[in-house]
Amino acid sequence: MIHNWKEGYGEWALVTGASSGIGKEFCYQLANRGMNIILVARRKTLIEEIASDIELKNGVKTITIDLDITEDSSIDKIYDKLKNIEVGFLVNNAGIGSFGDFHQTELIKYQNMIKLNCMVPVILTFKFLEKMLNRKKGAIIFLSSKSAYQPTPFFSVYGATKVFNLFLGEALWSEYKKNGIDIMSLSPGLVNTGFQKNAGVTPNQKGLMWANPKEVVGTALNSIGIKSSVVHGKLDKFLAFLTRLSPRKLSIKVAGMVAKSQA
Ligand SMILES: NC(=O)c1ccc[n+]([C@@H]2O[C@H](COP(=O)([O-])OP(=O)(O)OC[C@H]3O[C@@H](n4cnc5c(N)ncnc54)[C@H](OP(=O)(O)O)[C@@H]3O)[C@@H](O)[C@H]2O)c1
Repeated sequence: MIHNWKEGYGEWALVTGASSGIGKEFCYQLANRGMNIILVARRKTLIEEIASDIELKNGVKTITIDLDITEDSSIDKIYDKLKNIEVGFLVNNAGIGSFGDFHQTELIKYQNMIKLNCMVPVILTFKFLEKMLNRKKGAIIFLSSKSAYQPTPFFSVYGATKVFNLFLGEALWSEYKKNGIDIMSLSPGLVNTGFQKNAGVTPNQKGLMWANPKEVVGTALNSIGIKSSVVHGKLDKFLAFLTRLSPRKLSIKVAGMVAKSQA
């Protein structure tokens, strides 16, 4: 477990999807641990406001990069802008979902989702890992989801993108732990953010199943360097475990019913 995060990982943390929800909370909690923060998202005003607030509250430095990271040249632009910056902590957080019958969602939406949720984390990790390896320190978090633990009807493509992140993070944890790089997949259950509304569902975001971003990010930062993968919350941990023991068809059916009940 790292005590001095700047020394242990490097000066700067890069968070994608920093304008809201879980990404915004990562920015605050990493700044609270003394790291300088690079905030990436499309909504310029929001990330600038968050950056100013973080600087004021934590006395750390910030850089804002307002880009659609699914555009082809975006990652090169980010990399070039940061070529003299020590990015020691990468949070591959930006992600979108889409609820509904598979054939009723526009294909372009799936294409963008796969790009944002899967391709972007691969490219960012590929680019920034090299310098971490040279420095023999660094950390990378991949945002997976509890929906990676069983197929989720009506969130089918989204769930599949989260399996990608779960497996990628866990595999890279094993490859690079000997090099001093802490890599981890984070799998929250339902979290109170704008995610569901953007995905086309408007559930009542209350009750036992719902976590807040603060708790989720706390779990992640307490687990990095210790675990290869973490499911947030006792109930979701238990359900993820139960899924492994249940007949596959039953878990798929239950996941579909739960997803439908959110609509
Ligand atoms: N909320 C949940 O229940 C839940 C559960 C499990 C896992 N997760 C995962 O947690 C991660 C964060 O989600 P959240 O719940 O915090 O949702 P959120 O509040 O909707 O945040 C999504 C973030 O992604 C950014 N983003 C979306 N498209 C982008 C693009 N093309 N380019 C750059 N940034 C983009 C958004 O910023 P802009 O709109 O400003 O670009 C926003 O900051 C996602 O990977 C999601 O899959 C969420």
